Amino acid sequence: MKLERILPFARSLLQTAIKEGDIVVDATMGNGHDTLFLAKLVGETGKVFSFDIQDDALTNTTLRLEENQLSKRVYLHLKSHSELENTIPKQLHGSITGAIFNLGYLPGGKKEIVTKPDSTIAAIEQLLNVLSPEGIIVLVIYHGHEEGAFERDELLKYVSTIDQQRAHVLQYRFINQVNNPPFIIAIEKR
Ligand SMILES: C[S@@+](CC[C@H](N)C(=O)[O-])C[C@H]1O[C@@H](n2cnc3c(N)ncnc32)[C@H](O)[C@@H]1O
Repeated sequence: MKLERILPFARSLLQTAIKEGDIVVDATMGNGHDTLFLAKLVGETGKVFSFDIQDDALTNTTLRLEENQLSKRVYLHLKSHSELENTIPKQLHGSITGAIFNLGYLPGGKKEIVTKPDSTIAAIEQLLNVLSPEGIIVLVIYHGHEEGAFERDELLKYVSTIDQQRAHVLQYRFINQVNNPPFIIAIEKR
């Protein structure tokens, strides 16, 4: 298959937006796969700010970073991504080049703890304040579970109202696949 699949496409977008020395956000750290990917992209001189509301996510991500000796460039926060604007130091606002949300529940964790549209939308709004021009937010939307379908609908309503002077909004989605596979919304600040 020549068309890029969903998860590789999410990473391609991040790779396009982020270079060495950049400051970036993993809004849903989970088991730390995206945090690790971002930590490699930003290199020794960059910074990654990662958020999750579960202890297990912090523990798993800490271990993953330690195994890869990449802990120094990453700041892990046990708090909601809806607090990101107050958490990321003010002097870095305006220079964040990329952010990723992998929505839904922690793989291997408690399925009842899921991302919720209110806090996801609050975090996107805050990111739009602190991103640099051409900074990109990538949302990977998992809508195979009931709350995921609700979050999908709320997010699609919200992102389609973002003023086109403020950001470009893209949807990347296979529309003929069964079982509600994940899809991407990408938002590029203008
Ligand atoms: C699909 S997982 C993320 C997977 C992760 N990116 C990885 O690489 O393993 C979603 C995560 O979002 C977290 N989450 C739920 N609500 C959140 C919130 N308000 N702020 C930050 N993280 C949240 C969950 O605890 C869960 O770990």
